[in-house]
Amino acid sequence: MIFYFTGTGNSAYIASFLATQTQESLLSIFDAWKKHQWTYTLRPDERLGFVFPVYAWGPPALLMECIRKLTIIGNEHPYCYLVCTCGDDCGCTRHIFQKALYEKGWDLASGFSVTMPNTYVCLPGFDIDDPQTTQQKLKALPQRLTSIVHTLLKREHGFDVYPGKFPRMKSYVLRPLFNRFLVTDRPFHTNKACNGCSLCERICPMGNIQVIQGTPHWKGQCTGCLRCYHKCPHHAIEFGKQTKKKGQYSGPPST
Ligand SMILES: Cc1cc2nc3c(=O)[nH]c(=O)nc-3n(C[C@H](O)[C@H](O)[C@H](O)COP(=O)(O)O)c2cc1C
Repeated sequence: MIFYFTGTGNSAYIASFLATQTQESLLSIFDAWKKHQWTYTLRPDERLGFVFPVYAWGPPALLMECIRKLTIIGNEHPYCYLVCTCGDDCGCTRHIFQKALYEKGWDLASGFSVTMPNTYVCLPGFDIDDPQTTQQKLKALPQRLTSIVHTLLKREHGFDVYPGKFPRMKSYVLRPLFNRFLVTDRPFHTNKACNGCSLCERICPMGNIQVIQGTPHWKGQCTGCLRCYHKCPHHAIEFGKQTKKKGQYSGPPST
């Protein structure tokens, strides 16, 4: 069973690949959240996987909340693993997640990071990758995924999560500040290019956008995934003044 969280499709792409290779089922964290469904039955031999993007050098805050609510029956000690996707580096993501699972009584057996095209654009100096970097990252993907699948199928133990420089400072000092002040939908608004098509309302994984008389309104339940920003066909969504002249990421190749 693989629980996945995705904003712009990178993690969904990988989760879906792993589900096919391991022949295990795929469950969206957002679906669980919307349905308030927190109890799941694992087959006795089934692995328990979590695939998610790194947000500010840690797992997304909403995912952490969901982990606390989750109840798994059928196997008290499953083989647990994480695969996190990142643009650059993960800080202490692995340790933060491992601790959360430990508190549930689950041991994290293995963990991997996968470098994917970057999606964060809401601070100065942060933008999507240039085409060459995007291509390089996607070119390295098949080999990385093959090696991860190999480990999972053999149920091996071990970690290969890239922390980057100053991981503790990023995850334990900057991350709480990010979650406190920057996971907010208040700065979102539309520019003149918005034609009120309502795609943002339909695709927001939290159901957090409502289009009223042709104008999107954000309702205060945002995870900061930026799906609305990146998928807008008119590049009409802005986050304060930070996203002016920033690019949009169209998602991994097959989505
Ligand atoms: C709010 C937010 C915070 C992010 N923080 C980080 C980070 O700390 N380190 C990193 O390498 N990438 C970071 N990224 C980039 C994403 O982790 C990366 O692009 C990921 O593959 C996106 O996955 P998704 O398409 O499944 O949403 C961030 C992206 C967003 C939207």
